[in-house]
Amino acid sequence: KHVSVIILAAGQGKRMMAKSNKQFFKIEDKPILAYTIQCFLEHAYIDDIILVINQNEEEIVKNEVLNKYFKKNNFKIAYGGKERYNSVYNGLKVLDENTDYVLIHDGARPLVNKEEISIVVDTLRERKACVVGVPVKNTYKLINEFKEIEYTPPREKLYSVMTPQAFHRDLIVKAYQIGIDECAHVTDDAMMVELFTDEKVLIVDGSYENIKITIPDDILTMKRIIEGRTRYKK
Ligand code: CTP
Ligand code: MG
Repeated sequence: KHVSVIILAAGQGKRMMAKSNKQFFKIEDKPILAYTIQCFLEHAYIDDIILVINQNEEEIVKNEVLNKYFKKNNFKIAYGGKERYNSVYNGLKVLDENTDYVLIHDGARPLVNKEEISIVVDTLRERKACVVGVPVKNTYKLINEFKEIEYTPPREKLYSVMTPQAFHRDLIVKAYQIGIDECAHVTDDAMMVELFTDEKVLIVDGSYENIKITIPDDILTMKRIIEGRTRYKK
């Protein structure tokens, strides 16, 4: 099967409250986005990579990330849209005609591990849609417009989902075509499948280390996780 991954890097990083896009921040002298790309590039299951970027950041992506760290590789580039789902849709539009399986991954999740990539692809041999997730550690409340608690979903039935989110190509393309057409506001890719197809999305176990770099504190967490991994290896 031909496996493609769409890596999303076209956000603004507003919650990071920095001047430049968080994905170009350097950790141990390497940009966050380069970590993310490397995980997929080095994985034997991945056949091609589509990078979704801001049009006005094309030069910096090429100069500071691609040409510096991945000289001999061919990436397909697509331009992002207003919301994450617009960016995903733009990525889906440039899929290789041979692609069977599509993985969608946040550029801001540089700590994804080999096993997570393997498990989603292996799961696609049996299922049409799966996402990595972990059981929640906190108690969550559903609130009303006055911020009063309406309901407490039982914690053992709650999962926090991450990326990669993985799909058979036909399913995710169809879900996005309908969803974009209906102007659905979704916060992840599974939600498009949940809303606009009959397919059930399976959750497979991921790692708590697969964090999304969202607020400044996450940079410290990332450094700590990398340090832990190096120490463990030695
Ligand atoms: N993303 C994207 N296109 C968008 C919005 C987000 O490609 N229009 C990407 C981001 O670059 C990121 C991933 O989707 O890798 C997850 O989004 P998020 O963590 O929310 O990043 P930002 O949208 O950049 O951050 P913020 O919401 O704080 O502005
Ligand atoms: Mg965002």
